[in-house]
Amino acid sequence: MEPDWSALEAAARAALSRAYAPYSRFPVAAAILFADGHVLAGVNVENASYPLSLCAERAAVAAGVAGGHGAVRAVLVLTDAADPTTPCGGCRQVLAEHADSDVPVRSVTLQGRTAEHRLGALLPDAFDGRALRPH
Ligand code: THU
Repeated sequence: MEPDWSALEAAARAALSRAYAPYSRFPVAAAILFADGHVLAGVNVENASYPLSLCAERAAVAAGVAGGHGAVRAVLVLTDAADPTTPCGGCRQVLAEHADSDVPVRSVTLQGRTAEHRLGALLPDAFDGRALRPH
């Protein structure tokens, strides 16, 4: 079933101004639809020790795990950039832990530019827990 993208975008828009991005000045909001129907948002939360900064996508995944909302079914990433922002490599890996490869990842700008990919196209041949099984 097609996700309710307008609900995801509304959640991301509501959260975007709460992004904590004083260093990059690149606010990001992510909204995720979880298996139980909940839509939760996350924002990037930066730190003066730059590598400790948290991406919006990972913040949203963590909120869903903490709330017990189940697997990730759709992802929307919202920025005010000129071009739609796709998740960074680390977030692709984290999303792949909680989402099937056919999960849609939609990237939207405040100006209305949109791009959409399947997670499996963003992270082909992902490393996952199956690789950890002994032979
Ligand atoms: N960032 C995200 O939160 N998600 C993305 O998809 C791309 C990058 C954040 C990390 C950092 O706070 C800022 O954007 C600039 O890289």
